[in-house]
Amino acid sequence: MSSQFTVEKTQHPKTKPDQQNLGFGKHFTDHMFLMNYTAGEGWHDARIVPYAPLSLDPAAMVFHYGQAVFEGLKAYKTEGGRVLLFRPDQNLERLNISNERLSIPQIDEALVLEGIKELVRTDADWIPTAEGTSLYIRPFIIATDAALGVHPSPQYLLIVILSPVGAYYPEGLKPVKINVESEYVRAVRGGTGVAKTAGNYAASLRAQEEAEKQGYAQVLWLDGVEKKYIEEVGSMNVFFKINGEVVTPALNGSILSGVTRRSIIQILQDKEIPVVERRISIEELYEASVNGTLEEAFGTGTAAVISPIGELNWEDKQITINKGEIGQVSQELYDTLTGIQNGKVKDTFGWTFEV
Ligand code: COI
Repeated sequence: MSSQFTVEKTQHPKTKPDQQNLGFGKHFTDHMFLMNYTAGEGWHDARIVPYAPLSLDPAAMVFHYGQAVFEGLKAYKTEGGRVLLFRPDQNLERLNISNERLSIPQIDEALVLEGIKELVRTDADWIPTAEGTSLYIRPFIIATDAALGVHPSPQYLLIVILSPVGAYYPEGLKPVKINVESEYVRAVRGGTGVAKTAGNYAASLRAQEEAEKQGYAQVLWLDGVEKKYIEEVGSMNVFFKINGEVVTPALNGSILSGVTRRSIIQILQDKEIPVVERRISIEELYEASVNGTLEEAFGTGTAAVISPIGELNWEDKQITINKGEIGQVSQELYDTLTGIQNGKVKDTFGWTFEV
């Protein structure tokens, strides 16, 4: 029992999955965190309860108009048994940015952080420790008012669930093949690209499905207006090493501001590897591959951390990067970041929060 919320322990703990075979987001722990919002009353009834299906009215607004936001962050157990969250403050700050865009009321970030910590403590024996594994934390908010008029819901449910995970891509750190998407777009400035909202991911599925059918792991998204400038890769931010300098698309109002993106930029600066945020066109990237200056490419996100890109297909042109191997900087960034996350590398940035 905490002063801020109640904890109801399950009577039926589940069998834990094999740590060598977790996949991503397939297993869920014994408990979840819930909190309700009611107009006039604010957020209330923060509680930890046994993990179970929800009962919602079929008219709940989230089912019809997609008023939903989410986050993703991870917890790690160090070799010494400490439990660390990676930059949870940044995810909760972004959740409120998404809330703002989707007309969802602001949350008390400190209260939800306490709820996440208590939930992780409650299910701490679910945190996997095998190489490349972690406990993925998924906070999300849905509009629950039973009404079909299009307006912001007066009722919401905030939920946090936990999932022990392995690598996001079955390929792990093996470079993936990516198709440059020339028909569909992910987001436009003024739209919802800067928010982590369910609809952005729903809208990306068709392109991903078509790319997968052609043997690619994901798509490279171009801007929604000119279809010329690179924005993201799959559900991740994207980086290129060109002629010794690391380049990532500047946040332009349609790109999601990734916590991993921000961390990678800081690590590069700390290592004195030149890094720049700017507009980069697909033509420029192709030119760099032709003249031999495109050295490395990788996606960044909480789920995969770093996902190297070995090959890009743009219309009828094939771009092979670093002979399809993971690059030296990509590997170094992966080792540094995961090392900070799992406590093997000293956290000089103050990014880890002990639970
Ligand atoms: C991430 O890279 O963490 C993502 O946003 C992917 C997630 C939707 C599974």
